[in-house]
Formats: sequence, C-alpha cells, structure tokens
Amino acid sequence: MALPNTVRLVDVGPRDGLQNEATHISTAVKIELVERLAAAGIRHIEAASFVSPKWVPQMGDAREVMAGIERRKGVTYAALTPNLKGFEAALASRVDEVAVFTAASEAFTQKNINCTIAESLTRFAPVIEAAGANGIRVRGYVSTVLGCPYAGDIAPAQVAAVCRELLDMGCYEISLGDTIGTGTPLKAKHMLEAVARDVPIHQLAAHFHDTYGQALANLYAVLEEGLAVVDASVAGLGGCPYAKGASGNVASEDVIYMLQGMGINTGVNLQQLVLTGNWISAQLGRVNGSKVGQAMACND
Ligand code: HMG
Ligand code: MG
Repeated sequence: MALPNTVRLVDVGPRDGLQNEATHISTAVKIELVERLAAAGIRHIEAASFVSPKWVPQMGDAREVMAGIERRKGVTYAALTPNLKGFEAALASRVDEVAVFTAASEAFTQKNINCTIAESLTRFAPVIEAAGANGIRVRGYVSTVLGCPYAGDIAPAQVAAVCRELLDMGCYEISLGDTIGTGTPLKAKHMLEAVARDVPIHQLAAHFHDTYGQALANLYAVLEEGLAVVDASVAGLGGCPYAKGASGNVASEDVIYMLQGMGINTGVNLQQLVLTGNWISAQLGRVNGSKVGQAMACND
C-alpha cells in the first residue's frame, strides 16, 4: 500500500460541471464559481472550454469568463482546446494551461469531436507545438477508459496506447476519464496498472464520473497504486453532452473529506468548499450532489 502524502485536486466544475446544463448560466455566475473555488484553496481549476459553441452552447462565453476572473497567484486556470482555433482563443484569453481531449474508443471520439482517434492526435500536434512555443503546458484527456456508452468494454491496452501517444506528443499529464462512471475498483486498478507500464504514475490523473456511485471506491483503488492527481467537480456537477445518461464528476467535497480523513494533504479548506457547493447548487436550482456538502450543511 503506497497512498500518496499529498494529492492535487483539479476542480473541473466550471467546465465539466457546467457544460451539460441545459439552462443558460450567466457569465457572472461562472466567474464567481471559479473565484470561490480559488478562495477555498483549489490550486488547479478548469475554468472554461474553447470548443465550438454550436456543439456546446453553454461554454460559448469562454472568452468573457476568462477575462472576468480575478486571478490569484499560484492558481492554474486551465481550459479545453480541441484544435488550433480553440487554442488561439485560449491563448488570447491568457489561460495558464490547456487540455486536449480524445478517447480510447473510436465511437466516442466520433460523437464527441467528430473524428477518429488518429485524426484527433493529428489535430493536437499543432496545438501542443504552439503551446510549447508560448510556454503553456498541455494536459491530455483520454475518455471512456473504463467503458464506452457506444462500444461497451474497452481493453486496458487500448487505453495505454492512446495515453502513451499523448505523452510522447508532449502532454505533461494524462487524465484518465471514466466518462460514464461504470468502472469498479478492481477494473480501475487493472486499467491503471496497464497504463502505468507506459506512462509514469506521477504523470497520470483520475477523472471519474459518479454515475453508478463507484467513483470514491475507484479513486481509493488508484490512490493505493500511488496516483496523486484527482479531477473532481464541486457539488458533483456535470456530465458530458456526448455521453447520454452520464452524471457528474465525483464531488470535490467528497474527495477532500476522504483524503483529509486518511491524513492526505490537499491544501483545500473543506468548509469553504462546502459553502461554494451549496452556493452553486442554489444558483442552478438543484440539490447539492455532494453527500459531504449535504451533511455539513445540516450541521451548520
Ligand atoms: P467540426 O464541426 O468537425 O469542426 O467540430 P470543423 O473544424 O469542421 O468546424 C465547424 C465549425 O466550427 C466552423 O464554423 C469552425 O470555425 C467552428 P462555421 O464555419 O461552421 O461557422 N469551430 C470552432 N468554433 C469555436 N471554437 C473552436 C472551433 N473549432 C471549430 N475550437 C469540434 C469539431 C472539435 C470543433 C467539435 O466537435 C467540438 O467543439 N466538440 C467539443 C465537444 C465537447 O466539448 N465535449 C465535451 C468535452 S469532452 C468531455 O466532457 C470529457 C472529459 O470530461 C473527460 C471524460 O469525462 O471522459 C474531458
Ligand atoms: Mg468528464
């Protein structure tokens, strides 16, 4: 057992959490969400997405969101960029980091970004090159690592192969997406073991959606392997518009509570994070998807 001493939590709520919301969310609320997360001690925030507004209308105000955020020293403000057009807009918006995204499943890649896996990698090459020239780090996402809504089971070797390609192209970190949350702990562990043969574990992150309520258990399984970067979404917001039925990411509050309970350092103020989760849930008119958020609100 080799649990890490410190875990970096990447809050993807402002992007993954909000991208799937059907009703319009104001730019001001998006900005305030990012600022509240930073105030709660989150040091890595996925704040926006420079994708086609025809594909994901909710992210159409990415420029305005990035322009409105009062930046804090020491916080990385990141954004999704599927292609060079997205990267150029992100660069003009002074992002600290960008993320390219593909999948281990051909069918999902086609639905999500309208191309094959190989074509997606070809599109990323100029993004990674331009990012390097501008001193911007690139993260790579691989979706459907524990199952695909269209193709079913995905072989760990296929996940490992795509991760390795992204690493070789220059991504500094690869985030492993259980997009539809169907994974279970041993499956997660075996997938990670396969990927870690090709990619050093300190360059891997877990991005687990909680559709089937397995995300915390799956996270524990990969933390035991030494993985130390976790993507999560405040109040458990979110879902992918191209993965029908997929619910939000594991809630950041639940992850922080679990990590703190195991003596793992995160630098996050849980109480403040819970307040942020309750605030954004109220803004969206929905029940807080974090169990810890609900429990701590009851104790107020
Ligand atoms: P396409 O239609 O094949 O692109 O879409 P195209 O190059 O043919 O361009 C079509 C139009 O889109 C053109 O405009 C372009 O200018 C415009 P038109 O001439 O028709 O007026 N366009 C853009 N506009 C703004 N920003 C851009 C951009 N690129 C082209 N960057 C494309 C291909 C990749 C653009 C599209 O499929 C897309 O935007 N997909 C994004 C889907 C998405 O955001 N999905 C959710 C995020 S991924 C996710 O949630 C999973 C993750 O969380 C991990 C996990 O959970 O597994 C990361
Ligand atoms: Mg996701």
